[in-house]
Amino acid sequence: MVFCDFRKSFKLFRLWVFLRPFSVMLIVVVMVGVLLMVQTKMKDFIHNNGVSVQFNGRERVELKGFDAMKLQNRSSEGEILSTSYSPYHDWELFSADYEEMMKTLKIFVYPDAFMSNKSSTFSSIYLPHTNPFDPKLGNYFSEHMFKIALLGSQFVTQTPEEAHFYFMPFSINVMRNHPRVYSASAIEDFVAGYTDRVRSEFKFWNASGGADHFYVYCHSIGRDAASKQQELHHNAIQVTCSSSYFQRLYIAHKDIGLPQVWPRQHEEALSPPDARYKLVFFAGRVQNSLARRDLLELWKNDSSFDVFSGSSSFPYKEGFQRSRYCLHVKGYEVNTARVSDAILHGCVPVLISNYYDLPLANVLDWSKFSIIVNERDVPHLKKILLSVPKRAYLNMYKNLGVVRRHFAWYSSPKKYDSFHMTVYQLWLRRGLHRVAW
Ligand SMILES: *[C@@H]1O[C@H](CO)[C@@H](O)[C@H](O)[C@H]1NC(C)=O
Ligand SMILES: *[C@@H]1O[C@H](CO)[C@@H](O)[C@H](O)[C@H]1NC(C)=O
Ligand SMILES: *[C@@H]1O[C@H](CO)[C@@H](O)[C@H](O)[C@H]1NC(C)=O
Ligand SMILES: *[C@@H]1O[C@H](CO)[C@@H](O)[C@H](O)[C@H]1NC(C)=O
Repeated sequence: MVFCDFRKSFKLFRLWVFLRPFSVMLIVVVMVGVLLMVQTKMKDFIHNNGVSVQFNGRERVELKGFDAMKLQNRSSEGEILSTSYSPYHDWELFSADYEEMMKTLKIFVYPDAFMSNKSSTFSSIYLPHTNPFDPKLGNYFSEHMFKIALLGSQFVTQTPEEAHFYFMPFSINVMRNHPRVYSASAIEDFVAGYTDRVRSEFKFWNASGGADHFYVYCHSIGRDAASKQQELHHNAIQVTCSSSYFQRLYIAHKDIGLPQVWPRQHEEALSPPDARYKLVFFAGRVQNSLARRDLLELWKNDSSFDVFSGSSSFPYKEGFQRSRYCLHVKGYEVNTARVSDAILHGCVPVLISNYYDLPLANVLDWSKFSIIVNERDVPHLKKILLSVPKRAYLNMYKNLGVVRRHFAWYSSPKKYDSFHMTVYQLWLRRGLHRVAW
C-alpha cells in the first residue's frame, strides 16, 4: 500500500517537474480564453438588447431602432458636451431624464398662493411678487422667481392625488419685511403654524410625514424657519440659496441648493479671454469673514489682483469683464450672487467657501468651470491660479458659455434655466412611499 502510494506520488512529482516551466504560460492561455468568451457573450447581449458600448476604444456596437434614433438626437444636442471636458457629469443621462421630467412631473401648490384676499393681512406672504425685477429684491430674486415660474408652469396640477410634490408657498423674504411677522422668532412661529394648518386641513402631509413637501427661500433668515416644527425640519425639502453642509438645519442630499442670481433682464455679452488682463477680481464687505480679511490683507497691493473692501473703484460689472478669475469668498453665509455674476460674465469663479453645497452639483461638474480653493489656502491663491494651464483655463471659459443658461431666471422660463434645473433636483427626489390616504 505504502509503496504503491509512493509510486503514484512519484509519478505526479515527475509530471509537475516537467510542467512547471510552462505553468505561467498555461494560466495566461486559460485566462485569455475566458476573457474572449466573456467578450463574445457581452457582444451578443448588446446586439440583442441594443445598448451602446465601446470596445477597445474603436469598435462601436450599433444601437437598434427607435432608442438609437433618440440617443443620436440627444447626442447632437449635447455635441461638444460629450468630451471629457464637458461640464456635465453625464449629459446624455441628464437630458433624457430631464425630458422625462417635462412629461411627467406634477406639483400641487397649496391654494394660498392663488387667493388674493385683500382683507387678509397675511396673503402677500403667499402670493407671487408683482415686480421681481425690482433691484431692491437683489439677493432674494431667486426666491420670488421660483414661485412665479412654478405657478405659471405645466407642472402645477389641480389634482393633488397625482402630485409628486406639494409646494408650501410662503415667502421668507416677504415675512422679513412684514410688520406683523418680521423677527426671526415670529417667522419660525408663522412657518410652524402654517405647516400645522396644512397638516390638519389636507390629507397629504400625513401620508409621508411631509417628505414630499417643499418650500423655497433665498433670505438667509429662512435657515431657522423650520426650527419649531420637527417634521418640517426632518422631512420636508428646503430649497435654499444658503446651502451649507454645516448649517444647523440643512440636511445634505435631502435639501436643495438654489442658484442665487441678481435680478437682470438681459444677457451679458461675454468679453473674450484676451480682453481679460487682470488675474483676479473681488469686491465686497469684509464682514466677520476671516477668509475675506486674509484675502484683502495679503493681496490688495498685488497689481494683478483687483480686490476691494466694499465697492470697487470702477463699475462692478467691469471687474467681471476684465478679469480671468472672479472670487466668491464666504461672508456671513457660504453663498452670494457673485458665483452667478461670474458665470454670466464669463469670469471663471474661484470658490473660497468651505462646505458650500454647490447648486446643481449632481448634474454639473463644477471642477470643469470653476476652481475650488480651501479657505485656509488664501495665502497660496496666486500660485494656485497661475499654475492652471492655459488650455485648462480656456476650457473652463468655454464651459461657462455652456452652463450660464442654468444660472438665469426669466419671466417666461426657458429650457434648462434655473427654474427647470431646480425643479429637476426635486424630480431626483421623487418616488417616496406614502401611507394610504
Ligand atoms: C430626431 O430629430 C429629428 C429632427 O430634429 C426629428 O425629425 C426626429 O423625429 C427625431 N427622432 C426622435 C426619435 O426623436
Ligand atoms: C379673507 O381674510 C379674512 C381675514 O383673515 C377672513 O375673515 C375671510 O374669511 C377671508 N375671505 C376669504 C374669501 O377667504
Ligand atoms: C395628521 O396627523 C396629525 C397628528 O397625528 C393630526 O393631528 C391631524 O389631524 C392629521 N391630519 C389629517 C388630515 O388627518
Ligand atoms: C501694502 O501697502 C501698504 C502701503 O504701501 C503697506 O503698508 C502694507 O504693508 C502693504 N501690505 C503688504 C501685504 O505688502
